[in-house]
Amino acid sequence: MRVVNTSTVLILIVARVSFGLKYDNLEDFVDMVEDNINKALNYTISKDNSDILNLSSSTAKDFGTFDFIIIGGGAAGAILANRLTEISEWKILLLEAGGLPNDFTKILGLSPYNYFSTRSWGYNSTSQKHACLAMKEEKCSLPQGRVIGGGTTINAGVYARGHPEDFDRWSNVYGNPGWSYEEVLPYFKKSENAVFEPRDSDYHGEGGYYTVDINAVKLFKPLFNEKGIDFIDDYNGKYQNGIAQVQMSLKGNERVSTYSAFLENFTSRSNLNISLHSFVTKIAINNATKTAYGAYFVKDGVNYFAKAKKEVIVSAGGINSPQLLMLSGIGRKKHLKELNIPLVKYLPVGKYLQDHILFLGLIVRTNRIFYNQTMAEMLKLYEENQRPLMTGFQVELVSFTNFGRNQSIRPDIEYIISTPPPSSSQFEIFFGIKDSYMDPFNINTSSDILIYTCLMHPKSRGSVTLKSNSPLDKPLINPNYLAEDEDIETLYRGVELILSMNNSQILKNYEAYIVDVEYPNCVSYKKSSKEWWFCAIRQFTSPIYHPVSTNRMGPDPKTSVVNAHLQVHGMKKLRVVDSSVMPELNSGHTTAPVLMLAEKASNIIKKQHNRY
Ligand SMILES: Cc1cc2nc3c(=O)[nH]c(=O)nc-3n(C[C@H](O)[C@H](O)[C@H](O)COP(=O)(O)OP(=O)(O)OC[C@H]3O[C@@H](n4cnc5c(N)ncnc54)[C@H](O)[C@@H]3O)c2cc1C
Ligand SMILES: *[C@@H]1O[C@H](CO)[C@@H](O)[C@H](O)[C@H]1NC(C)=O
Ligand SMILES: *[C@@H]1O[C@H](CO)[C@@H](O)[C@H](O)[C@H]1NC(C)=O
Ligand SMILES: *[C@@H]1O[C@H](CO)[C@@H](O)[C@H](O)[C@H]1NC(C)=O
Ligand SMILES: *[C@@H]1O[C@H](CO)[C@@H](O)[C@H](O)[C@H]1NC(C)=O
Ligand SMILES: *[C@@H]1O[C@H](CO)[C@@H](O)[C@H](O)[C@H]1NC(C)=O
Ligand SMILES: *[C@@H]1O[C@H](CO)[C@@H](O)[C@H](O)[C@H]1NC(C)=O
Ligand SMILES: *[C@@H]1O[C@H](CO)[C@@H](O)[C@H](O)[C@H]1NC(C)=O
Ligand SMILES: *[C@@H]1O[C@H](CO)[C@@H](O)[C@H](O)[C@H]1NC(C)=O
Ligand SMILES: *[C@@H]1O[C@H](CO)[C@@H](O)[C@H](O)[C@H]1NC(C)=O
Ligand SMILES: *[C@@H]1O[C@H](CO)[C@@H](O)[C@H](O)[C@H]1NC(C)=O
Repeated sequence: MRVVNTSTVLILIVARVSFGLKYDNLEDFVDMVEDNINKALNYTISKDNSDILNLSSSTAKDFGTFDFIIIGGGAAGAILANRLTEISEWKILLLEAGGLPNDFTKILGLSPYNYFSTRSWGYNSTSQKHACLAMKEEKCSLPQGRVIGGGTTINAGVYARGHPEDFDRWSNVYGNPGWSYEEVLPYFKKSENAVFEPRDSDYHGEGGYYTVDINAVKLFKPLFNEKGIDFIDDYNGKYQNGIAQVQMSLKGNERVSTYSAFLENFTSRSNLNISLHSFVTKIAINNATKTAYGAYFVKDGVNYFAKAKKEVIVSAGGINSPQLLMLSGIGRKKHLKELNIPLVKYLPVGKYLQDHILFLGLIVRTNRIFYNQTMAEMLKLYEENQRPLMTGFQVELVSFTNFGRNQSIRPDIEYIISTPPPSSSQFEIFFGIKDSYMDPFNINTSSDILIYTCLMHPKSRGSVTLKSNSPLDKPLINPNYLAEDEDIETLYRGVELILSMNNSQILKNYEAYIVDVEYPNCVSYKKSSKEWWFCAIRQFTSPIYHPVSTNRMGPDPKTSVVNAHLQVHGMKKLRVVDSSVMPELNSGHTTAPVLMLAEKASNIIKKQHNRY
């Protein structure tokens, strides 16, 4: 535990070398941050895409001919653009709907404010029946990156690959040769530059472009240890299950995105053409031969067409990749017919959507003051690489836990432990919570610890569908969170485990306890009964924005959209490389597997074109 007072701050300033964001003086830095926060608080999320897209009826101007066109410069697209331009004879066009990140995005601890900016697509789910009931209109807020780097430019930065069993299942259960853990591990390592110690070095890369670091204290590790959950140094190493300090996409004090890691230093490659503010509205397909040959996009209100000689690669993310395929005539027959979109290929696009969801509502209240700084003070600490703004959502610890306590079985639950927690008003804003619903929590940001309980392997699956045949409309996202009973049972078991810690020694040491919250709307259930907790969970749920499986990978075109080489079934020169191809969720967060799959896809592509 560290209580920061003035004298320690001074010592730290002298002792630490500071990296990253350099402003002439602290005041300018604070002004920049406060300006961005104020803009976010005053930002109106557009109901449709008209804030970045002007459709015009003029004929498309020729943007030229390229070997590959990559649609979306997010987590996956940025890596592909880097790796494919390693072949100097290949000309690559990267089309990204968003623009460049600003300095504000580099501060992981303030990442949620980016949801309320041009850098997010600003999605909500459809009204949910079984979860997110405390959210406005029962819609879960579902931000997605709309900026180069995609999710990695606005996300919380947690680097957690998952369990070996996850990838073995991609291979064995879903029938995708080449994707077992043993076969994908080299691609996790390829991107990585792990700089934290101690770590299981056999499992990490060094000298890759994507830096991974740890910046956390170990406050509540013993709490889990008392329950027989082991401390582990490195959950991306030999063993995943246990409690550990969170690994972050972090270099010095700055966020690492796929833009900063894979593109920023490579823009001078003469065979790489990055076109920002370029919203792709349709993939050009020869229907007779089922061959993709280009992309239509709108940039600054002008229509363009770019031609692809070798391939079109869709990397628009878990929501927008299925949207774009459907707008281009690839999808479910009935749905496309309803919207008057001529069918090119019948595939289950948008089906099988899965997402990680967590319970927001467990607070540990202590008698200590861990953090009590003004924004200016926190930013000063940040300049010296000090918490609390170093990690997304101020996450310190994560615990991957399976109820069988067996390292060879993947975890059921991830606990995400944040200090300091967001304030009640930040909660309301970040998660879109209904007015007054946060009142019973009365969060104390100086002394509370928040434990989020996250379901790793939901059984519920939902869908992404189109509202209309126009790219101006945002897609309809129905994740069906907690629709399957097994999901809420598992989350509840996760909550029970934390509740059983209420009388533990470590909490006693801090004169701490788990706050007994009077969750709104649960009065009709017996206090603290299972039904009462189900009521609480169904209300205070939020996704952690990992939509996957909407173009899932598999051998059968009836139940999957791409094959194990990520080629769209029954189509030529068309691939999908992004989170949408994951057959199911991993036991972690989704950035790391997307980095892996983009690295692997780059090699597959090079091999298939005899360049490897
Ligand atoms: C708020 C938030 C927090 C998250 N926190 C974490 C975390 O802590 N740890 C973690 O591991 N993962 C986290 N994730 C998830 C992670 O960021 C995503 O899984 C990952 O970015 C997905 O990569 P992708 O390449 O599939 O899509 P994205 O990274 O979303 O990239 C898709 C890109 O395509 C562009 N695009 C979309 N449609 C079009 C179009 N029609 N034309 C042109 N361009 C288009 C988008 O603007 C975007 O840049 C978080 C995500 C979000 C949104
Ligand atoms: C918020 O936006 C409104 C209307 O656009 C404007 O009048 C107001 O000054 C803005 N407030 C801040 C704090 O920027
Ligand atoms: C999502 O919900 C929030 C909160 O209700 C609202 O402000 C926002 O406009 C909604 N977004 C869309 C795209 O409808
Ligand atoms: C769309 O066109 C209108 C009218 O020309 C303009 O005011 C607006 O800024 C444009 N929007 C975008 C996103 O280009
Ligand atoms: C990218 O392609 C466009 C259209 O062909 C061209 O105008 C532009 O100069 C190219 N940019 C680079 C950096 O090659
Ligand atoms: C980009 O290049 C600079 C200068 O060579 C180097 O210091 C930096 O580490 C590079 N960044 C990445 C992400 O490789
Ligand atoms: C594409 O071809 C199929 C026959 O293979 C036909 O049924 C369909 O209508 C065509 N679609 C378009 C968009 O022309
Ligand atoms: C927060 O908790 C600390 C430590 O117990 C206490 O001193 C402080 O008064 C509390 N703040 C509020 C607003 O309740
Ligand atoms: C936090 O700091 C402020 C300003 O220094 C002080 O007024 C307040 O009492 C402090 N709160 C706690 C809980 O220490
Ligand atoms: C752990 O699970 C594996 C796979 O189910 C099983 O083979 C093994 O016996 C279990 N080990 C323990 C210690 O329970
Ligand atoms: C935890 O224990 C304290 C007493 O130490 C009690 O007041 C509180 O209600 C308990 N919390 C829960 C969630 O049961």
